[in-house]
Amino acid sequence: MATAQAQPNIALIKYWGKRDIRRNLPAVGSLSLTLDALWTRMEVKFSADMGEDHLRIDGESAGDMLPRISRCLDKVVGSERPRAAVESNCNFPIAAGLASSAAAFSALVVAANRACIDAPELFEASVIDAVTSRNTIDSARLAGAASGSAARSLYAGIVGLSVGENEIDVATLLPPEDWRLRVVVAVTERGQKPMASGDAMILSEKTSPFYSSWVVNQEQDLDVARCAVSARDFEKLAAVAEHNCLKMHSVMWTSRPPVVYWNKGTLACMQAIRELQADGEPVFFTMDAGPQVKAICLPDNEARVTRILRDIEAVETVMRSGLGSGAKILDDA
Ligand code: DP6
Repeated sequence: MATAQAQPNIALIKYWGKRDIRRNLPAVGSLSLTLDALWTRMEVKFSADMGEDHLRIDGESAGDMLPRISRCLDKVVGSERPRAAVESNCNFPIAAGLASSAAAFSALVVAANRACIDAPELFEASVIDAVTSRNTIDSARLAGAASGSAARSLYAGIVGLSVGENEIDVATLLPPEDWRLRVVVAVTERGQKPMASGDAMILSEKTSPFYSSWVVNQEQDLDVARCAVSARDFEKLAAVAEHNCLKMHSVMWTSRPPVVYWNKGTLACMQAIRELQADGEPVFFTMDAGPQVKAICLPDNEARVTRILRDIEAVETVMRSGLGSGAKILDDA
């Protein structure tokens, strides 16, 4: 049995679209922040005595997510594997646009690697050899095959993901201690999102007239963002991240039928952040496949940003986070 913890990551330059659906290869590169205060813990236990896989999320049996988990385990330790009992716990709302699948699948791969190595009697020697020789990028590719954004949660701090012909590459661009960015998450709705991001991006590719220009222009945004990160230029990062986020949502909105994840709280938070910007505060917003607003700021203005967002009527709760480590084994679990 092994337990791993991973934190969600928030993309500043977004992944939206698939180059290859079967391998879940993204159409575009991305850049993200791995958080520290939000987490998912995954416990994996392989057993020769079980006839099928089991999954519990926060103590409840979760049959609908099970096929994706089983497919991921098949890739990590082979489809001839023993069945597994998987327990997932997380300290934030899932499937609500807070990158819960990123944290879940990155933790799952790391926990399954270790659970396999710790129970060699249950696996073929060739599987043990393959798992033992696996490094972080191999695990990131496995996590990314399950959920594109999950590949980034294997890495700490500010993370860049690029897409080659056949595979992705992922790396930390800046470790957490090198730029103390803060993320204030305004939760405007706890319910599950109307459409899974994977399905929505396939719909966008098929139907949005803006999709092809989104893909073509992504490299330019990534270049600007990488430069801003290496120069720790907050203003430059803010401008390109907001622009990229609004472009992704424009592609969603112009899909048929439209994919709209925002609610009135989302708009109220964006408005409040724009007012803070007009008042000279270093802060910017980003939203993913859900109505929550993530405000990125610096330690000195975190208190004000938090206060302003918390006071918005449609905001249910506010969570705060710094940047953290990549997925790792919890040895004392
Ligand atoms: C809007 O990683 O959830 O959060 O690969 O289909 O599982 P699948 O998609 P997923 O998509 C994330 C989309 C996003 C942007 C991002 O995180 O880059």
